[in-house]
Amino acid sequence: MSLLSHHPRRLIIAITGATGVAYGVRLLQILRDLPEIESHLMISDAGVLNLHQELDMRRKDVEALADVVHNVRDVGASIASGSFQSDGMIVAPCSMKTLASVANGLSDNLIARAADVVLKERRRLVLMVRETPFNLAHLRNMTSVTEMGGIIFPPLPGFYHRPQSIEEMIDHTIGRVLDLYAVPHTLTPRWSGLKSET
Ligand SMILES: Cc1cc2nc3c(=O)[nH]c(=O)nc-3n(C[C@H](O)[C@H](O)[C@H](O)COP(=O)(O)O)c2cc1C
Repeated sequence: MSLLSHHPRRLIIAITGATGVAYGVRLLQILRDLPEIESHLMISDAGVLNLHQELDMRRKDVEALADVVHNVRDVGASIASGSFQSDGMIVAPCSMKTLASVANGLSDNLIARAADVVLKERRRLVLMVRETPFNLAHLRNMTSVTEMGGIIFPPLPGFYHRPQSIEEMIDHTIGRVLDLYAVPHTLTPRWSGLKSET
């Protein structure tokens, strides 16, 4: 079911230079298998560095997973306008720099502009922020985005479902993000209560 019924389902995905680019890649892999959803991708320069560092992937390997690719410097792209309808945007992972830019409405590249548009059009914005520990600027910026209607979703793994691999941990988190957009998936085991001790 679409959040807005009169346009194709579209999700904007941005990969920025925080560690954890595997979250963005997994998201794109899931969306690639859902032809009813059009994925729009942006990768920041620091995101490209981390794709290489963490996954040995090149920009073009990841861009091949998306339906539409945008250059972060192209502030004239479709997704820079509120008239281009989408179901929202996920920044996976989201650096503290991109968080700061979104929190302060800077629109200084297409990632920050697209997020700004999603917020102004009251669409769903999820920032998978990643840093540790946080300084006060990080915390204040997360509060600002929350006050504007965005969702701060740090990729923090749960252990109660006893994950056996990093892939399982990533899928569990990505499943919870997709739940926020009513995207059907089987990535997340559904909690049915604590196991009995006996
Ligand atoms: C290997 C590596 C790991 C990084 N991890 C983080 C991180 O976890 N969180 C963060 O906020 N920045 C991290 N950074 C720094 C960002 O990449 C840097 O601030 C960059 O300017 C972010 O720009 P972007 O938001 O346009 O991608 C990391 C950088 C490198 C090279």
